[in-house]
Amino acid sequence: MIRRIAINTGGGDAPGLNAVIRSVALSALNRGWEVLGIKRGYEGLLDETPDSIITLDRSAVRGIAHLGGTILGTTNRGDPFKYPTLVDGNKVPTDASSRVVERFRALGIDALVALGGDGSMTIARKLMERGLPRVIGVPKTIDNDLKGTNVTFGFATAVATTTDALDKLHSTAQAHRRVMVVEVMGRHAGWIALHAGIAGGADVILIPEIPYSLERVCDKIRQRYEQRSDFAIVVISEGAVEAGGEIMYKAGKDEFKEHAVLGGCGERLARQIESLTGNESRSVVLGHLQRGGSPISFDRLLAQLMGCAAVRYLANGNESGMIAQVGDEMRLIPFDEVVGGTRCVDVDGDTVETARDLGICFGDEPSNKQYVRDSATPLVAAV
Ligand code: F6P
Repeated sequence: MIRRIAINTGGGDAPGLNAVIRSVALSALNRGWEVLGIKRGYEGLLDETPDSIITLDRSAVRGIAHLGGTILGTTNRGDPFKYPTLVDGNKVPTDASSRVVERFRALGIDALVALGGDGSMTIARKLMERGLPRVIGVPKTIDNDLKGTNVTFGFATAVATTTDALDKLHSTAQAHRRVMVVEVMGRHAGWIALHAGIAGGADVILIPEIPYSLERVCDKIRQRYEQRSDFAIVVISEGAVEAGGEIMYKAGKDEFKEHAVLGGCGERLARQIESLTGNESRSVVLGHLQRGGSPISFDRLLAQLMGCAAVRYLANGNESGMIAQVGDEMRLIPFDEVVGGTRCVDVDGDTVETARDLGICFGDEPSNKQYVRDSATPLVAAV
């Protein structure tokens, strides 16, 4: 029997976190439960400052569904199994998981709703092995790469932000007859690049799932200029690689962080395109703009569908797991089906096919389904 639940938000933020917090709080309060908010992932359970755990009553969640960020704060250095702890003046990773479980029990919390990505789901599963009673995960990442669910909240807003940027870049690219290379987020999966690239009319889309050939990319750029289009838009995921090449990193990871910081592939590509084709090129990194701002209506709705489903699963059963959209339904799937993998773009799926049909280049070898045009001949099916 549930009386008191807690909510936390972990990992990188995504538009829609506050809408989930509100929906979880309201549907729990409407059942007569108490709701606590844990600040900054699990940090609020370890650092016992007065505002590290807050009560989420109706007034605390009023008017927040449209706000970006998270009222609870978040961190991607908050894994309680390697918690930064001061030892002899230095921060060293320490296993603080038993303190998390003890504090959780001392606060009389019956279940946790954990909003996060793969890292947060992995932590939730490990904490349950250490004695946390019940956890329901709600899948969050703008990268849309969590296994088990059709979609994660935050993705649609990131795609809308990126599409808007591509619209703006079109006019300046055209005015200067330039190639604009736009680097977008997507470490292991190219969902943002693919969806925004199609919506925003890109000429080239480079994603981690399809290693690219620089020559093919340059061929496409030359073709654009030969056809008197005189500018080109290239969208590249931060994790895209040239065939036989390596991912570009901006900074290494420290002992508290799960991921190193990616970045730089867009600028490198712009320089390569300029020197190989002779066309003036510029690069833009959209970076954290993609994580910011107000969630669009699709994400606000998805977030609330997921948040309320989490509370219904808590009320109507005893299981733990992650909420996933499967078909049109919100289901609870075991953590084991989610953690440690990536949901990649289906390179033979309809969306990639659509892009190819539109003439968008992925920098790979043309397949027999792709159409090419050389300057002398009309449109022909490549063999
Ligand atoms: O939210 C996922 C993600 O957007 C990745 O695509 C990106 O590499 C990462 O977050 C960057 O996170 P941060 O700058 O917070 O470390």
